[in-house]
Amino acid sequence: VLPFILALVLGYLSGSIPFGLILTRAAGLGDIRKIGSGNIGATNVLRTGNRWVAFFTLVLDALKAAIPVLLARALWGEEAAMLAAVGAFLGHCFPVWLRFKGGKGVAVMIGSLLALAWPVGLIFCAVWLLIAFTRKLSSLAALTAAATAPIFAYIFASQWLALTVLLLALILFYQHRTNIARLLDGSEPPIGGSKKTA
Ligand code: G3P
Repeated sequence: VLPFILALVLGYLSGSIPFGLILTRAAGLGDIRKIGSGNIGATNVLRTGNRWVAFFTLVLDALKAAIPVLLARALWGEEAAMLAAVGAFLGHCFPVWLRFKGGKGVAVMIGSLLALAWPVGLIFCAVWLLIAFTRKLSSLAALTAAATAPIFAYIFASQWLALTVLLLALILFYQHRTNIARLLDGSEPPIGGSKKTA
């Protein structure tokens, strides 16, 4: 049991590093929590107008999940790797350092999936890109990719990964609840568009 707890804690600590907040502040762009949607993720960092800072937020948020997953797998095996992914997801969405008000989990899910079962990760990215380019809505792209990910995990990996991804997808949907409301009433702004704090 101890390795499983360690994997969860390792994932949580890594996942709770708010790169979006750190990078936008370091780049002199202000507090990301007061810009656009107020979210600390790459989509909202893009609303500062700085593509590079958004790009690095995406990459580092993915890496902060992928690294503990790979480490946990090397040290304690596959189940521990999945728990590290859950830990990283919880750390990102509910970071103790930000009074549990964190991100929405998209980049972290990409990093976890690429590390756990890369074909599933690539399919997630492909679905995201397909919806993002055709509909220009980051949240809709993320929700669609997350909703389909458990099915692809079941087909290309295992039932355990499918269950793990289903859990992450449910949290991702919960974190997107204001986006879902805006999607339903047609007020969700397109990628790169501005957004009032919500
Ligand atoms: O990845 C987060 C995205 O799906 C929505 O972000 O800032 O538009 O709420 P945002």
